[in-house]
Amino acid sequence: MELNKIMELKMKYYILSFITIISIAILTDGCSKLKENITQPQALSIHKTGFNDTTSANFHGKFLAVNNFDFASCQKCHAADFKGGITGVSCYNCHTEGAGPLACNTCHGDFHDPTRTAPPRDASGNTSTSLITVGAHDSHLYNNGFGIVACENCHKIPTASNAADHFSHGPQPNIVKLDSLAIHGIATDASFDTSTGTCANTYCHGNFEFKKSDAPTERKFAYTSDKMTGNAKTVTWTKLDGSQAPCGSCHGTPDGFISPVGHIKLPITECVACHSTVVNEKGEIIDKTRHINGQINYALNKRK
Ligand code: HEC
Ligand code: HEC
Ligand code: HEC
Ligand code: HEC
Ligand code: HEC
Ligand code: HEC
Repeated sequence: MELNKIMELKMKYYILSFITIISIAILTDGCSKLKENITQPQALSIHKTGFNDTTSANFHGKFLAVNNFDFASCQKCHAADFKGGITGVSCYNCHTEGAGPLACNTCHGDFHDPTRTAPPRDASGNTSTSLITVGAHDSHLYNNGFGIVACENCHKIPTASNAADHFSHGPQPNIVKLDSLAIHGIATDASFDTSTGTCANTYCHGNFEFKKSDAPTERKFAYTSDKMTGNAKTVTWTKLDGSQAPCGSCHGTPDGFISPVGHIKLPITECVACHSTVVNEKGEIIDKTRHINGQINYALNKRK
């Protein structure tokens, strides 16, 4: 194989240089310099010094990122399956997940936790929540006490087989695509504004409407108007002080009741009487799969 020949020639060149360096070292300065040369094997690598050091400017991750993730250049020597080929150095030595270096947490998310693929740690290595590339990912996906949110609510997601499509073209200007629950019902005008970092008219943040005419007769009593509506809050993606999601922000009335506009007014401790599968007596969400799920969850409290 041609590559094998090149490698062989390169190795010969390295060995020759090494012997020359050793000879010079012995002839000039004796043992101390010789030791220095022995403890610096990096100088012999085919790659630049620091290619394997995450703190170095030459780190291979950074190198790949600025080169638009040109994996083909690595595959020439490390094999198409990244398992080492003629180099004997497999990417899987360190990239231990099934997809190797193409795993979803390699370039964003937590490199050490495959269940965390979203930022913090955006595609440039940033973790500050004041950047829109990081923002409120964590509080939506991993620390959300209100409901279940998934990537597909806000993005078109690549799969392992087409992962390369989404990063090979460089940073995309409009990578938010609100879908499914975010645009449920009347919320078809849900939108994210990249310039202000704000999200408006999503179902999740209260752009909903439930009609009295659609309710079964025995449930119409709860309506004080012909419909119940949420507050359609506009929220700032990088504001994480808790002020944007208290009970009553997405649904609630200005006088402090958290039931939606058009719903009989009741204290938070009473919701359990009719929405017993969603909240408890303290007004805490007890089942995240039932809250902000696009469904009316009406269930009388059997314990009473
Ligand atoms: C000796 C261990 C090691 C080997 C071998 C290795 N990697 Fe990595 N690689 C890492 C570590 C560690 C990181 C992540 C560091 C961090 O960001 O925390 C990384 C990060 C990356 C990244 C992420 C770039 C980004 O956007 O941050 C890519 C892509 C990558 N490696 C590709 C490869 C490929 C392709 C190979 C094989 C040709 C390979 N790596 C071999 C340890 C290794
Ligand atoms: C010309 C062949 C060649 C190409 C192209 C190549 N490598 Fe290597 N790589 C090697 C060889 C040989 C080694 C093992 C000895 C060494 O470090 O030179 C190696 C070792 C490594 C190591 C381990 C370094 C260490 O110190 O343990 C990493 C990480 C790595 N390569 C990543 C990459 C990445 C990422 C790419 C693509 C950007 C790439 N390589 C492209 C030949 C190559
Ligand atoms: C080699 C690096 C790399 C790997 C591997 C990778 N991504 Fe990405 N991903 C990026 C970069 C860079 C961006 C930022 C913007 C862009 O280029 O589209 C991104 C953006 C995204 C986005 C935001 C929406 C979009 O379309 O840009 C999602 C969602 C995403 N990645 C999911 C995944 C999933 C799921 C996988 C695994 C199947 C994965 N990524 C693997 C580099 C990577
Ligand atoms: C609630 C909405 C929402 C959800 C859910 C969400 N994202 Fe994002 N994501 C955003 C926003 C907003 C941005 C910033 C968009 C921009 O830069 O214009 C973003 C940006 C990104 C980026 C780009 C970072 C960069 O450096 O360019 C990646 C990668 C990403 N998201 C991955 C994910 C993954 C993976 C998931 C699921 C595990 C996910 N996101 C779920 C809203 C979301
Ligand atoms: C006495 C019974 C009762 C109590 C107590 C009650 N609700 Fe309701 N709620 C209903 C009925 C009936 C509907 C309408 C169901 C339909 O249209 O089928 C409803 C609908 C809703 C809706 C809109 C549809 C849905 O299920 O999401 C919200 C939001 C809501 N209630 C929130 C609350 C909150 C918050 C509290 C506590 C402050 C509360 N409710 C207390 C009976 C009650
Ligand atoms: C991020 C916005 C948001 C916040 C914050 C929020 N809710 Fe909701 N809530 C909704 C939406 C949207 C619905 C409409 C029904 C659905 O999709 O589950 C809803 C419906 C409800 C219902 C009706 C039962 C149901 O799920 O159908 C109750 C009860 C309720 N919320 C109580 C609470 C309580 C208590 C809190 C504070 C602990 C709270 N909500 C905070 C968005 C929110």
